[in-house]
This record gives sequence, structure tokens and C-alpha cells, in this order.
Amino acid sequence: MGLAAVTPTEYNISVFETHEDLVSASTDWIAGRIKAAISKRGMANLALSGGSTPKPVYAALSRCDLLWESVWATLVDDRLTDDPSGSNAVMVNELLKQNKARKMIFRALKPEAGAQPQFDVAIVGMGTDGHTASWFPGSRDIQRVLDPKSNDAVQVIDAAGCPGAGNYPKRITLSLPALMNSRDVLLLITGAEKLKVFEQSAQMSVYDAPVKALRAAGPRLTVMWAP
Ligand code: 6PG
Repeated sequence: MGLAAVTPTEYNISVFETHEDLVSASTDWIAGRIKAAISKRGMANLALSGGSTPKPVYAALSRCDLLWESVWATLVDDRLTDDPSGSNAVMVNELLKQNKARKMIFRALKPEAGAQPQFDVAIVGMGTDGHTASWFPGSRDIQRVLDPKSNDAVQVIDAAGCPGAGNYPKRITLSLPALMNSRDVLLLITGAEKLKVFEQSAQMSVYDAPVKALRAAGPRLTVMWAP
């Protein structure tokens, strides 16, 4: 495996030589935490992001020999759309809830979902605008969704006018406190631009670079990056 470097900081960052190495390492990392959660607590709770980066990871994870009937998964966020090609729930059902993982218990994210469990692993991506989950800089709802004291674990947000939301400005997303209530947060990013945006987020306002909010997880945050 092309593990080029692990930088010892307040969060964990692993740099890989290729996307394939990142997919393989992140799959093994997630599978290991699922296995540990089930052996310790009898079940594993996952929060899964959409976008393109995690797709090969979900496909590889679906082939892992785990006690999938003891795995409960929901989404970090989703697009509010009737277009199945834009739905993270459809993507997770197609790519992860198949093969050996077909018995995984999957709940799409619904406004009425209410309080969320403590997750064992929350898998997140990042846009080049510095968004993660559906926390978009410039969104009229960004302060509400990043409110660390919010009791609204699942929020509908409007990302109209936010380039990072693409064709799907209406979103549903975990709030900051709901997502951060996770034993591990795994941020999967690729490309030089995203790494630069992540690193620069440390010096920005969290409202301008919501990905910065993940840093509060400290050693519970693991960043995996490939060129
Ligand atoms: C979504 C995701 C979103 C995603 C980033 C990165 O619904 O789009 O949850 O937050 O993680 O936009 O997407 P890529 O992995 O496709 O770059």
C-alpha cells in the first residue's frame, strides 16, 4: 500500500500515492472500526456522505466479510430531489447495500428523523468551496446548521446561490453536533486543490470554510488524501 506519510498532528492525516491505495486503506480502516464496534457494543452505527469520492469505498466495503446485520447506517446528508441520479440514498443502496453488505440496516435521512445515535464512523467528503456534509459557505442556513448547541440533529437547508451545491440546492443534513457525535470522523479528499482548501481552512472563519468545524474532533478526525 502506498502510504506516503502520516503526519502526527492533533488530527490524523494519511497521504497515499494513488486513489486505489486510498480506497483500499480507507476500506480496511472502516471495516476495522465496524468490527471493533460490533465486538464491543454489539452493533456499529455509520453516517455516510454522498458525492463521488466515497463511491469506490462503498463498493469495496460491500464485499467485506462483516456482521452486516449488526450495522446500522444513515446519511450525513442528502439532496432533496426526485432525480435518483442525485440521491445519496439511492447511491448508498446501490453501491454499499449489496453483496455481503446487503443485510445492512439503512435509513435514509428524513426531516422527522430526530435525534441521532452516537456514530462509530462518520464518513465525510469536502468540496473545493470548503463545504462538508451539506454545510455550504454562504447558505442562509449555515449558522443554524453549525450551531454547536442545536438540538435539531437533522435539518433541511437551502443552499441556493452556493456554487458547491451544484444542481441540488435543497438539502437535508446532519447538524454539526449530530455529526460530531461520532467516535471517528473520516474525511476522504483527493487532489491538490482540496488539500490546500482543507489546510487553509484553519485560518478561516468556519462560516467561510465549514470543513474547519471537523477539526474540533481532534484525534477522532482522520483525513485520508491522495493526489
Ligand atoms: C453531497 C456530499 C458532499 C460531498 C462533497 C464532495 O451530497 O454532495 O455529501 O458533501 O461530500 O460535495 O463531493 P465529491 O466527493 O464528489 O467531491
